This record gives sequence, C-alpha cells and structure tokens, in this order.
Amino acid sequence: MLNGKKIVLGVTGGIAAYKAATLCSRLVQRGADVHVIMTESAKQFITELTLQTLTRNVVYSDTFDEREPSVVSHIHLADLADLVLVAPATANVIAKMAHGMADDMLSTTLLATTAPVMIAPAMNVHMYDHPAVQHNMNLLVQRGTLMIEPSEGQLACGYVGKGRLEEPDTIVDVVEQFFAAKASGNNAGQVSYVSAPAINPMTTQTATEAQLLTGKKVVVTAGGTIERIDPVRYITNDSSGKMGFAVAAIAQELGAEVTLIMGNTQVSPPANVQVIRVLSADEMYDAVLSQWDEADIVVKAAAVADYRPKEVYKEKMKKTGDTLSLELIKNIDILETLGKQKTHQFLIGFAAETNDIERYAREKLERKNCDLIVANDVTRAGVGFGTDTNAVNIYDREGLVEELQVMAKEDVARQLLSIAAERIAGRN
Ligand code: PMT
Repeated sequence: MLNGKKIVLGVTGGIAAYKAATLCSRLVQRGADVHVIMTESAKQFITELTLQTLTRNVVYSDTFDEREPSVVSHIHLADLADLVLVAPATANVIAKMAHGMADDMLSTTLLATTAPVMIAPAMNVHMYDHPAVQHNMNLLVQRGTLMIEPSEGQLACGYVGKGRLEEPDTIVDVVEQFFAAKASGNNAGQVSYVSAPAINPMTTQTATEAQLLTGKKVVVTAGGTIERIDPVRYITNDSSGKMGFAVAAIAQELGAEVTLIMGNTQVSPPANVQVIRVLSADEMYDAVLSQWDEADIVVKAAAVADYRPKEVYKEKMKKTGDTLSLELIKNIDILETLGKQKTHQFLIGFAAETNDIERYAREKLERKNCDLIVANDVTRAGVGFGTDTNAVNIYDREGLVEELQVMAKEDVARQLLSIAAERIAGRN
C-alpha cells in the first residue's frame, strides 16, 4: 500500500520513542522508503543504529553533520518527503512546530517542507491537558497538520489517562488511509485523521460537561450503506462517516457508553468506541435493533439507501444492450421504524437536503417521530458529505432549536448532545 512513498519520520525524545522501531519496521514492510530524523533527546531512548538498520537509510540528527556534499540535508529531506510523520511527538516538538522554531535537524526540516505533516503526540496526561499544549495542538490542526491523537491507558510515568502513543499498527493504517484518500482525490490534505475529536480550546470540556452523558448509552450510526448489485458492483452514497464519528467521539468524551454502527467509509472510527460494522440498510437495521432496548440516545447520522436492487446477481452481470434497467425495491426506513417503537429512547435524525430544507426536515421529524432532527443543506461549501465541518439547523416539533454556522463536526456534535442531555434531564 505504501510502495514508493517517501516518509520522513521524526522521532522525538519520550519513552514512546522505543515504539519508533516497530513503526519503522511496519512502514518498510508495507513498501515505504523511510528516512528518520531523531532529536538528541530521542537518542536517549533508542539508537540511530536500530532505526538505520530497519530503514536501510542514513538516520539524521545533527543539522551540521552533512553526509552528502551535493545536497543540504534538511532541505533535501523536506523536498523528497511525500509525508512527514512525527511519532512520537513530544510537547516540546509540538511547541516548536506551533511557533515556527528551527533549532535542530527535525524542526528545520519541518519548517522547510511543503509536504503534509502528521503528528502522533505522546506524553504525560497532565502535560497533554495543559492549556499551552492544547493551544499549540489546536494551532497545528488549524494550519492543516494531521493529528493522530494519543490513546488512553497506563502511561510509562505511572499515570493512567490520555497520552499514550497510538499503536504503530494503527499509525501505519492511518498513513495508508491518508495516501489512499489522496490517490482517490478525496482531499486528503484537509482531512484531520484523529482518533478522537479535534482539539479546540474554545470547546475544551468543562467538568460539568464531562458528566453530561455519564451512565447513558448512546448509539450512533455513521457512513453510507452499500446495496449490492452483483459481486463487483453496488449502490452507495458520499457519506464519509465523519459526522457520525464526531458524535460518537464527543458522546464518549461526555461520559456515555457508545456503540457506533458504521457502514461504508474510508475514514477510521474513533478509538475506544465499540464498533459494529455493517454494509447494507438491512444489516444496519439489525445492528440498531440489537442495541435499541438499552439505548438512551440514538443518533442516526448515517446516509441509508432508500432503495436496493430487487435482484442481487450471484455472478458478475454481463454487458448486453445499450441500456440497462435495474429494478429497485424500497429499503426499510430504520428511523421511522424506531420512531414507532420508541419508549424511553431520545431519537435524533439527520436530514441531508438540497432544497426546501426546513420543510423537508420538519416533515421527516414528524413522520419518523424524532425528538430532534438535524438538517444540513448539503449544497453549501463545508457542509454535509465528506467535509470536516458542518452547518446545521436543529429542529424539534415546535420549530428551530438551534442554528449552527459552519464549524467542526465535533463542535456540531457537542452542541447537539448538550441539547439532548438537557432535554433528557428535563424529562426526568
Ligand atoms: O458522513 P459525512 O460525510 O460526515 O456526512 C454527513 C451526512 C451528510 C451524511 C449527515 O450529516 C446526514 O445528513 N446524514 C443523514 C443523511 C440522510 O440519509 O438523510 P435522509 O434525509 O435521506 O434520511 C433522514 C434520516 O432517516 C436520517 O437520519 C437517516 O439515517 C434515516 N434513514 C433514512 C433512510 C432509511 N432507509 N433509513 C433511515 O434510518
């Protein structure tokens, strides 16, 4: 998958630097040409020789130790990179990147490159939560740096919390997805590959928010469904799953137990969320039903096919005449079915519309017996399918509840779930 891709791997000085060896090895196994730059601190944790042996390339750490007279090494590396990946990224290198410092081989290369940059932070949980670090990461995300958020767990310093370097295999998967998205013209350069919501100090959760969904079970559907025509063809839609993933990640951040039911997408789901993978509308229906009784909130952000081919061919269909008609039959409307069965569940639907947004959205709210419906005008830039942002109007039976301008899907999710939590609390 990474054949011929030139990856400059920055390794910085934290205990997670030892994982750089596995990361190098996995990237090389998948065909990447890996060029390592280590900081002086990284060399306290892992040797140049290890990474050189694994990559079969010179490992750089000193800006002035020019090994190849015909080039200036940091410019050469900056130019050759298809991707600069910094893993693990310490708070120090993140601060340097945020403030444009260039005082060693890695930071000068980072400043000189025009290639996409991806970072995988790793540090102590309190360092990670420090407003300065959050601010710096936010600056980087806003500038387009791709972020692979650390996972939660036992940290080497003895604390348990967020700050553990994402596993090398996951990092490699994300790198592969990045190149796959780029190859398919899926605007990979603007995609934030985060395993949790993008960091935004403006929306950093407060202690009260953190309690909002504690003890609640939230079921989220995301992505598009696939309706098979034959073994090699299917009907689907443009849903990337990002809106549903954002809802799942924020629900988890707010304390909920989350089940994410995901259809077809090229984007990784948030880490540490229980995931059920489905393809067709029928499978999505079964998966939702399996979670329904225990669910407190169900958010249907998925784009479900309204119709499927009447006949699914077992063998590849052959080309025959100049035209071909496919007979489609109606799929079950999952949301409408849930609306009829609803007891204690708080049901949130989405409506992807191109015209008469309010009329269609409110008609769906009524017909599907939702508590809220989130309408997005998918003809607008930065709204709806595939984007990292969305702009929505949230309606209930009385009318408009909230109008949200274009913002990160995580921020839309946060506002939506806050409204849901407030209403559930009101019921009780
Ligand atoms: O995934 P992204 O790329 O981030 O894009 C986000 C999104 C545009 C997909 C999302 O914001 C959105 O609008 N999701 C709903 C898309 C959609 O299918 O809308 P709809 O108007 O066709 O359906 C209305 C509601 O009924 C939806 O909640 C849908 O999940 C549900 N439905 C529809 C058909 C069906 N057979 N069963 C359903 O449950």
